[in-house]
Amino acid sequence: MSIKKNAKTIEFGKLTYDKNTIIELSQQALFSRHCAVVGTTGGGKSYTVSKLIEGIIENKGKAIIIDPTGEYSTYDHNPHVEKTVLITDSYFSYKNLTISDLFVLFKPGGQVQQPILLEAIKSLKIAECMIKNKDKHSVESETKERIIFKIKDKQNLVVDYGCILKDSMPKNPFLNMYFKYKNIIEDISVSDFNINLVARQIYNECVYDNGNLWGGHDGRNWGNSTSLVMRINNILNDNDYKKMFGFEQSDNKDLIGIIKEFLESDKNVLRIGFENIPYNFQVREILANAIGKYLLNLSRKGEFKKQPIVLFVDEAHQFLNKKVKDEYFESTELNSFDTIAKESRKYGLFLCIATQMPRDIPVGTLSQIGTFISHRLINHQDKEAIANACSSANKDTLAFLPVLGSGEAILMGVDFPMPVMLKVDLPKIEPNSSTPLF
Ligand SMILES: Nc1ncnc2c1ncn2[C@@H]1O[C@H](COP(=O)(O)OP(=O)(O)OP(=O)(O)O)[C@@H](O)[C@H]1O
Ligand SMILES: [Mg+2]
Repeated sequence: MSIKKNAKTIEFGKLTYDKNTIIELSQQALFSRHCAVVGTTGGGKSYTVSKLIEGIIENKGKAIIIDPTGEYSTYDHNPHVEKTVLITDSYFSYKNLTISDLFVLFKPGGQVQQPILLEAIKSLKIAECMIKNKDKHSVESETKERIIFKIKDKQNLVVDYGCILKDSMPKNPFLNMYFKYKNIIEDISVSDFNINLVARQIYNECVYDNGNLWGGHDGRNWGNSTSLVMRINNILNDNDYKKMFGFEQSDNKDLIGIIKEFLESDKNVLRIGFENIPYNFQVREILANAIGKYLLNLSRKGEFKKQPIVLFVDEAHQFLNKKVKDEYFESTELNSFDTIAKESRKYGLFLCIATQMPRDIPVGTLSQIGTFISHRLINHQDKEAIANACSSANKDTLAFLPVLGSGEAILMGVDFPMPVMLKVDLPKIEPNSSTPLF
């Protein structure tokens, strides 16, 4: 099948109706327009993904797996595989999250909390700039708790316990510094400030407005912010989150560093384990999306041109098609996989997503996918989603989708002129997903 001379191939399975016919797929044809493995639970998706990863290892390619359940931990002892489990041995620094990710996390409500949170983040970024560039400013006095900066016209900007003091302070010095560091402060793609101070800074933001001066403490605004502050404190003090986002220092390694090392190493696979990540506050989506975004940016810089990367995302319905609406970031979409599907083929970053529910994949992503490996599918809408996205899938073949056995699949795609019904070979390393016996 689609064998080009010298092209790297993956021995994938046998024809269902002729067990002697071995099906070997060109790696290029499989992944070059992204690949989706779909099917109901127990259909064999994870085994198929494992088979594909095996092929990539044999061909000395490179792949990263986002492993939501730890199924692929069976690979951890393979000498070609690097693994890292978030929370247990690595973290994704909150400083690499976008401001909208933080909004998804903290969920500021309504018309009071959102502007206050935004303002508090702005202030903390200014405080961070002031502290980092202390020697470039004139410091009037400094104690452990408080640094007083003298800004233009002898007006003061006070950084108190790392936060900007606003109560009864003049606005001008703040605005001056805001414009000075505007590029850094308005860069919403990073969160470079001390996140542990957010609640304190929110308190500082609750002041009256007296024109050129901020007034005294505004108890009503503060009251309206209580639920936000409680939510933030809960998240910042949660042991899992602390370890996951690096809210406090630990011996764990930064995931970004691990990815960089992996890319430079001669290992073939990096497993990023999500098995210990809790399911609340949408942290799984935020993290997967942030990892996707990081890889997307690397690909845009041309890092994968010479050595393409396949990003495997199992149980992709957990991560795709997630939208969070709020009025500040018109629709805060966790859409980096969508963008990868649309633009990163040219840059050598390819997606291979496995999901039970094709209808959960955003249409934009689905229509970019060139190869479908479909295991058993029963639901009508799911079958339709596949049929719509795939021109060569004629009705005759789709009729078999509900009756496929475990490990049986129909292969369709732009590089495969005819849909092929096949049985996938058992992978040498089986994922840890067997159905318990009753
Ligand atoms: N190619 C295969 N050959 C033989 N048996 C298979 C094959 N693939 C899967 N199976 C059997 O089917 C079971 C379920 O497979 P798998 O875990 O890959 O399903 P899945 O589609 O990933 O399910 P889920 O959506 O629940 O994750 C496996 O434990 C295995 O026993
Ligand atoms: Mg699975």
